[in-house]
Amino acid sequence: MRKTKISGIGHYVPENIVTNKELEKLMDTSDEWIVTRTGIHERRWVDSRIGTSDLAVKAAEKALDMAKVSAKDIDLIIFATLTSDYNFPGSAVQVQDKMGMDTIGAFDIKAACSAFIYGLSIGDQYVKTSQADNVLVIGAEIQSTGVDISTKGRDMAVLFGDGAGAAVLQPSNGSSEILSTHIHSQGKYLKELWVEVPTSIESPCITKEMIDEGRHYPQMNGREVFRHAITRFPEVIMEALNKNNLTIDDVNMFIPHQANLRITQSVAKRLGVGMDRMYSNIERYGNTTGASIPIALAEAYQEGKIKKDDIVILAAFGSGFTWASAAIRW
Ligand code: ACO
Repeated sequence: MRKTKISGIGHYVPENIVTNKELEKLMDTSDEWIVTRTGIHERRWVDSRIGTSDLAVKAAEKALDMAKVSAKDIDLIIFATLTSDYNFPGSAVQVQDKMGMDTIGAFDIKAACSAFIYGLSIGDQYVKTSQADNVLVIGAEIQSTGVDISTKGRDMAVLFGDGAGAAVLQPSNGSSEILSTHIHSQGKYLKELWVEVPTSIESPCITKEMIDEGRHYPQMNGREVFRHAITRFPEVIMEALNKNNLTIDDVNMFIPHQANLRITQSVAKRLGVGMDRMYSNIERYGNTTGASIPIALAEAYQEGKIKKDDIVILAAFGSGFTWASAAIRW
């Protein structure tokens, strides 16, 4: 069977920077509360009339450049997002159209913060089994238009940011390889972090009353999410290492989903890893859900923190609950 490598990676974040100080003007919060609880100093929020697919295209163009492939070469798009431009269809088809690609397969996956690794896992199978030669895996989100930017929604609104990252997967003839991917879920916890409305179990699926009650905004039990996250991250990282007979010391860079700096620090401590090997950019971007891992991977690569033949571990935890990891030889 063929091996799969990541041959291109790219990211894009909107230019508009929203600092904690600016949020203080919009809700009863403080820079001190946000930094202490989350590590976030600022995030990027789009200006109006920009869609998730627009961010995705900009990230994808960079990934294609690095992989030295054209849009016409892509034979499958897997788009990890909770915030597609429209309720249906997903944004993958918009990327196919906006980038002038052929009539290829294109679909979205809705596995929240773990979705990019889920996408990598699917793309890996397509390349390995020779069903595709150039797979574009995207993680992109616009969270800022979906949160309650007021004191009532402050627990969620301060956390999230907008952005996009993308990777091109191709067959590998050399040492670069996606060594393994691991995906998990436990649906009994779905209401610990979710958006209820629009909902297919009510008719109509969205009403003025539902909006007045704020049921279209994300709801989170922060402490419960924290508790599960700091267990699942180390567990799924160890699963990836054990599968490949690797140890913590073999890993050059850990790229965790950027959920919250306290979660990342806690995971680093549990694994006995210094923060120099645990990549973090949440300070600048907040939590960009499905986009956070490809953005972090692209930045770590651009900063020279990932080099040829390095062992890189991706790990995520999020709504569902879902969690996932990937072991990569770069
Ligand atoms: N600014 C100021 N005060 C706030 C804010 C805010 N933005 N948000 C909540 N508060 C208040 C609360 O109302 C509460 O006030 P009260 O004591 O008067 O009732 C107080 O701060 C403490 O609230 P808690 O929810 O208990 O705060 P906690 O210390 O648990 O921190 C946090 C909240 C940061 C969300 C924490 O639970 C956490 O780190 N959870 C992990 C979940 C997470 O980070 N998820 C990210 C998204 S999910 C994912 O990506 C996996």
